[in-house]
Amino acid sequence: IPNKYTLRLWNSCYSIDFSLLQPETVKKCDVVNSLQFKQRFCEFQFNLFLYISNVLKHQLYENSPHCVQLKSTLLFFPDGSSFLCRFRGAVRWYTVDLDLPPSKRWAPLIAERKNDVRDMANAFVPSGRLIELVDIALPLMADTLPSPFSEEIKGIADASGVPLGEVVLFNIFYEVFTVCTSVVAEDSKGNLLHGRNLDFGLFLGWDVKNKSWTISEKLKPLVVNLDFKKNNQTVFKSTNFAGYVGMLTGIKPHMFTLTMNERFSLDGGYIGILEWILGQRDGMWMSFLTRTVLEKANSYEEAKKLLAETKLLAPAYFILGGNQTGQGCIITRSRTLSIDVLEIDPKLDRWYVLETNYDHWKEPFFLDDRRTPAMRCMNQTTQTNISVSTLYDMLSTKPMLNKLTTYTTLMQVSEGKLESYIRDCPNPCMPW
Ligand SMILES: *[C@@H]1O[C@H](CO)[C@@H](O)[C@H](O)[C@H]1NC(C)=O
Ligand SMILES: *[C@@H]1O[C@H](CO)[C@@H](O)[C@H](O)[C@H]1NC(C)=O
Ligand SMILES: *[C@@H]1O[C@H](CO)[C@@H](O)[C@H](O)[C@H]1NC(C)=O
Ligand SMILES: *[C@@H]1O[C@H](CO)[C@@H](O)[C@H](O)[C@H]1NC(C)=O
Ligand SMILES: *[C@@H]1O[C@H](CO)[C@@H](O)[C@H](O)[C@H]1NC(C)=O
Repeated sequence: IPNKYTLRLWNSCYSIDFSLLQPETVKKCDVVNSLQFKQRFCEFQFNLFLYISNVLKHQLYENSPHCVQLKSTLLFFPDGSSFLCRFRGAVRWYTVDLDLPPSKRWAPLIAERKNDVRDMANAFVPSGRLIELVDIALPLMADTLPSPFSEEIKGIADASGVPLGEVVLFNIFYEVFTVCTSVVAEDSKGNLLHGRNLDFGLFLGWDVKNKSWTISEKLKPLVVNLDFKKNNQTVFKSTNFAGYVGMLTGIKPHMFTLTMNERFSLDGGYIGILEWILGQRDGMWMSFLTRTVLEKANSYEEAKKLLAETKLLAPAYFILGGNQTGQGCIITRSRTLSIDVLEIDPKLDRWYVLETNYDHWKEPFFLDDRRTPAMRCMNQTTQTNISVSTLYDMLSTKPMLNKLTTYTTLMQVSEGKLESYIRDCPNPCMPW
């Protein structure tokens, strides 16, 4: 029975009110019978739900062209910059000066985006019991985070006026709940391109009226491009959310590009975070590792080694692109080690590697198969025609573009360029 209870998380109809049953009048099999009946009924309902969602998704996407063609909407400006249509807004650039003390680095950005950060914090932290936990327990956690992240997070709390615990929550949440699509591709000239959609906000509240995820919508105004500088020189660039100090998407110009995708696993992020709270702190936070790699690593090989060998708090996929032919890989990580590395291989005609949120050697979860349509789209595009704009087309094709998609980033390592776009998925569009 306790095991059955855990299913209540999934499906409310598993709940049985035992308080109505008087212990002396209940025989064991009454409970079992009632449970079995409800269980069968619920399984039926749940299967029906899965079936209907799948048929819907199939109808929505399967009959449409495999790859949207937005190429005609790509405008080039005289200075070489490009402008892609069909996105909500331009993403602003901010400089983060790494020569400043950590607590001061984010102040200029936060000063401008204070209201958006507050809005987000209010949506993120529901009222009541949880808020007590967040405002009382999580500030203590800020002290346990490694430097400079601890100081930076405190600096952000000071500058925004958002309680420290809520900023901590905002900073640790991505460790466990992001779904994404990332791809590194090599064009026929040997240039490496790296694209990603960042999808976030699953199960954190669906706005029925607007047909959107509450958190995804609140995140969109927070999307910023960051230029991290030392001695007034760019060290790396990133697309990020204001108030978040880890990295999910970044480029070290002329050296490598890096994105991180969530890997769902039983030994998942929650356990690592719990261990951290309980004092076992030998693993590294994923998004802190990606930032450290962007800051410190000086080649593709060095980045790859760090990403593959550092002990982590949660399993993950790292998608890494280098600056030379053949340098592109997906590193599949458990918390302790690298399980698999899949690389671009010109000899095998593997000119791209693509990752959503499932191990590449396994079938993706049938309700969330973004990999097959994404690969179909890449295959249809061909290596000859892959470019920043066709990559954008692929990432604009549903279901790679869905209601969770907050931004699309495109990176070109040889030119040191990163561009990002805040996304909206026009209806009809699936929630994920
Ligand atoms: C829903 O959409 C409308 C119009 O697009 C907007 O004004 C409103 O703020 C949205 N509501 C929420 C809760 O996001
Ligand atoms: C930093 O570089 C920019 C552009 O390269 C220049 O305009 C600015 O004066 C420099 N600032 C300092 C403090 O050197
Ligand atoms: C590629 O990266 C390596 C290692 O950082 C660097 O030495 C080399 O100059 C880079 N190549 C190009 C073409 O930028
Ligand atoms: C795409 O092409 C690759 C390599 O030829 C192949 O392994 C894969 O099955 C194709 N995928 C789809 C969905 O067409
Ligand atoms: C690739 O681009 C060329 C030139 O624009 C075009 O003629 C060709 O049909 C394209 N190939 C595919 C597979 O889209």
